[in-house]
Amino acid sequence: MKFSNDFFFGAATAAYQVEGAIQEDGKGLTNWDEFVTIPGKTFEGTTGEIAVDHYHRYKEDIKLMAEMGLESYRFSISWARIFPEGTGDINPKGIEFYNNVIDECLKYGIVPFVTLYHWDLPLPLEKEGGWLNKNTIDAFVSYAKVCFEHFGDRVKHFITFNETVIFCGHGYLAGAHPPGIKNDPAKYFQATHNVFTAHAKAVLAYKALKQYGEIGLSHVFSPAFAVDDSKEHTFAAMHANQFGINWYYDPVLKGEYPEYVMGLLLKNGTCPVMLDDELASIKQAAPLNDFIGLNYYQPIRVEKITEPFEALEPTRENSTGAPGNPSFDGVYRTVKMNDKRYTKWGWEISPEGFVDGLQLLKDYYGDIRMYITENGLGDEDPIIEGEVCDIPRINFINDHLVAVKKAIDAGVNVKGYYAWSAIDLLSWLNGYKKQYGFIYVDHNNDLVRKKKASFHWYQEVINTRGENLHN
Ligand code: NOJ
Repeated sequence: MKFSNDFFFGAATAAYQVEGAIQEDGKGLTNWDEFVTIPGKTFEGTTGEIAVDHYHRYKEDIKLMAEMGLESYRFSISWARIFPEGTGDINPKGIEFYNNVIDECLKYGIVPFVTLYHWDLPLPLEKEGGWLNKNTIDAFVSYAKVCFEHFGDRVKHFITFNETVIFCGHGYLAGAHPPGIKNDPAKYFQATHNVFTAHAKAVLAYKALKQYGEIGLSHVFSPAFAVDDSKEHTFAAMHANQFGINWYYDPVLKGEYPEYVMGLLLKNGTCPVMLDDELASIKQAAPLNDFIGLNYYQPIRVEKITEPFEALEPTRENSTGAPGNPSFDGVYRTVKMNDKRYTKWGWEISPEGFVDGLQLLKDYYGDIRMYITENGLGDEDPIIEGEVCDIPRINFINDHLVAVKKAIDAGVNVKGYYAWSAIDLLSWLNGYKKQYGFIYVDHNNDLVRKKKASFHWYQEVINTRGENLHN
């Protein structure tokens, strides 16, 4: 079970979910800072104002990560700390903060793995149309260049975007993320295309600087499997994967859109405006993209919808990953199956689906380097006699690391695993009710940090390079 020495054992966070200090040291407000103030959008009205105060406690947090033996820390930069208005003047305090975080990691030999966009868009850009406005593409590329120029001497791993399908899908179909628009497929596809263009242009800008690091992007990886092998459900799974995987991965890895999806978008009038220079950038950047990051939590089980149905009104509760929803186009629905295991939030637990899914990706995209940039268990951790006994998380991560190893042994090129999350943090929609971390944060006692059972366990995994994992 031993992982090779060049495989990163890591863990991840995102700026909005940990930092807090949303208006400190010149930081501008973001789409999220505003969105969460709308009543009913988040569980108990939680906001990122304080989160877990990582902005002030990053030294303590990184020290704990180092004690756990973490080899790499994936965190995101908040664009509005660097450019409070999204464009224009740089905020030196923002640069200083991330310089400090990077240097703190390096002090312990922790490799910083930096996400440039983990959903928090500077508010002025959102007000001007956000990802529907093509100016946002240029603004992103300028911001990305500033990050490469200031941090690229020490950061050699950049992720442009995190989970396009979620911030666009929740933003323009489910209405559960900013800008809170519901059921608008044309806007949804337009936003995704603008993001792929921004990614491509950022990759080209990065390579032009010759910093000799790597750049890629992180997608949700939720492979669809048919509920049985009937023709109609097999078709449903193919359709789901075309829209959920190929639409997202093809432009990044192949430099073009999947014909199947394009055909349908053209037919039903939801094809985005795609300018020639944008398509040329997407084509040119694909071979320069170094890796793909996969955020794997669960596969989906799908069945073809054959009867007329009434779509559920999208809400916070039914947009957060649990099965039951029809696809936006009414072709299939996700199904909860009796013979599968689920988390408290109704997410399927399936390390087997992970192995099969990774194989599927290899079949589609060949030897591309992959990092598992997120994987973990959201749970309400039991506290017994003051100790956080998160045994279900240990079992979950054990089984998924074993799955990764199986995939590697079968020839899939996976180079690292980042547990979500390094420390308990603010869930975008579920507040603090749902925990993911190795480090507990006590919200009743000054946000004091405490090591969970999983902290000691992961330490041992890293120490033995996986030899203590069990099948
Ligand atoms: C993926 C997102 O990147 C992260 O921000 C979120 O907290 C986790 N999924 C868990 O839902």
